[in-house]
Amino acid sequence: MSESMRGLKRTHRCAEVVDAPLNSEVTVMGWAQRRRNLGALIFVDLRDRSGLLQIVFDENTIGKEGFEKASTIRSEYVIAVVGKVVKRGGAVNPNLKTGELEIAAESLRILSESETPPFQIEENSQTRDELRLKYRYLDLRRPDMQRNIIMKSKVMGLVRSFMAKEGFLEIETPMLMKSTPEGARDYLVPSRIHPGSFYALPQSPQLYKQLLMCSGFDRYIQIARCFRDEDLRADRQPEFTQIDMELSFVDEEDVMDVNERLLKYIFKETIGVDVQIPFKRMPWQEAMDRFGSDKPDTRFGMELHDISDLVKDCGFSVFSSAVTKGSSVRAINVEGKGDLGRKQIDKLVEFAKGYGAKGLAYLQIKSDGTRKCSFAKFMKDEELDAIIDRMEAKPGDLILIAAGKNKMVWDVLGALRLEMGKEMGLMDPDQYNFLWVTEFPLLEWSDEENRYMAMHHPFTMPMEEDWGMIDTDPGAVRARAYDIVLNGTELGGGSIRIHQDDIQEKMFEVLGFTKERAHEQFGFLLDAFRYGVPPHAGLAYGLDRLVMHIVHADSIRDVIAFPKVKDASDLMSGAPGEVDEKQLKELSIKVDLPEKEE
Ligand code: AMO
Repeated sequence: MSESMRGLKRTHRCAEVVDAPLNSEVTVMGWAQRRRNLGALIFVDLRDRSGLLQIVFDENTIGKEGFEKASTIRSEYVIAVVGKVVKRGGAVNPNLKTGELEIAAESLRILSESETPPFQIEENSQTRDELRLKYRYLDLRRPDMQRNIIMKSKVMGLVRSFMAKEGFLEIETPMLMKSTPEGARDYLVPSRIHPGSFYALPQSPQLYKQLLMCSGFDRYIQIARCFRDEDLRADRQPEFTQIDMELSFVDEEDVMDVNERLLKYIFKETIGVDVQIPFKRMPWQEAMDRFGSDKPDTRFGMELHDISDLVKDCGFSVFSSAVTKGSSVRAINVEGKGDLGRKQIDKLVEFAKGYGAKGLAYLQIKSDGTRKCSFAKFMKDEELDAIIDRMEAKPGDLILIAAGKNKMVWDVLGALRLEMGKEMGLMDPDQYNFLWVTEFPLLEWSDEENRYMAMHHPFTMPMEEDWGMIDTDPGAVRARAYDIVLNGTELGGGSIRIHQDDIQEKMFEVLGFTKERAHEQFGFLLDAFRYGVPPHAGLAYGLDRLVMHIVHADSIRDVIAFPKVKDASDLMSGAPGEVDEKQLKELSIKVDLPEKEE
């Protein structure tokens, strides 16, 4: 039976009761975590978003009827209790904020009953992900999920107050916009009024925030929902949130300065961590050469070394033939792993293949000083010595070597470095290594499209000193782009924007856009630029990724209230779903499904 809460007013959340004087009367409401009957006493752990609180029902205090009612309480019943704050009669629970107290219940109402939940609502649930997500509203009751979601709310509040003080204006930009071809795949929304036409959901507010600079708003911030139809990963959702900003009359130093102070503020206010500013900076080329990644985790070493010069004339053709333009031979030294067995080494080779390597060469220096080397028979002793010297390897170390196109070699060794670093516990979870990665290539060659693509986006300013190479060696032109990296995660990225017609036109030409096509796609931005455009720059963070780091979540799903799973569906609501014939007709849409595979 459900009772109403008429006449009752909650005075405290569960954990807030510690602020109430002893023997004062409080009214608390929440979910029954569990009930224990100890003869003449019934104990209930009451839970709400603030934490747990022990309630004691004693027949002498609450009366026979109340006591009987208390004995019907089951897990997840919603109850209201009026009672006195008293010192615990039994053992103190040091793990609870309210561990020294309990409420001596004087009256009880059962506000609603609950069926047996499909899983226990408790910290660090071992429940399968599918079940958690199907019953997300229950999963969200768990204390760890509550902490994450509450932390995200706190971070949003901190961002807003900090940025307001810095003179940023919060301005909304449209959700229904025009599809633009660069970047990830768009989510499309059909127009009823314009049959055959579609809006796109924003992948980011990029164009609009640049227009806001043209309109003179000077400093813009938005906590913006973004949509990208791309393959999901542990730190990627189709729908996510950016802390998005744009600033006028600034250069890199201004953008970095305000963002370093913002991050310092957030980390101090949320988890009390003192982040050192200014952050280190590292050009993209150095990040790739040393860490095999444009988002290096700099909490540990195991850096890559180029050994191309040492092996270019050796007898092992895999190495010698790889030393050409755009290819190289590089290695990492996994210290202390020189005695790995054959099976474990094979696993590493397989791992490397997963990142595009044809194979992985290795040189083990066993603890007893003997060597085991996958390519020894092709090499002279002094050539092996030179590699060991370069890698500063000692007995007990393992040198892993990849040869081929730079990109593949970086990917393979970068991934192996992270894998081994993780396995060997080299990543201190309490260390926060912020890093700006700068001087990204402006363009990236796409084999699929057979043309250059913008690495960041087409409005990113090239570095002046490289612009002369735009016709002769476009791939070598660097951009005034920067990413903010934390412990191997790309938290955010941004750039100085092009505000000069001639450079923008040339960019479109290099990207293979005709003038007409550029105008069709971005005409409104290019037009706006004709009426006085301030030099401007900006940056966007993935808010979800930032919060993941603050709460140490392994998956982005743990910081999003209602996330999607790998195939972009929502296990709780069943989205996406089919729609009525009538709705399709209204939208002038005919569905042409591919034949189902047998
Ligand atoms: P970018 O595409 O680098 O830049 O995105 C900025 C940041 O958004 C986060 N992010 C994601 N988070 C979760 N799921 C996703 N699918 C996802 N995709 C991106 C990342 C990333 O660093 N308009 C530019 C920014 C600018 O130039 O100002 C932009 O969107 O943390």
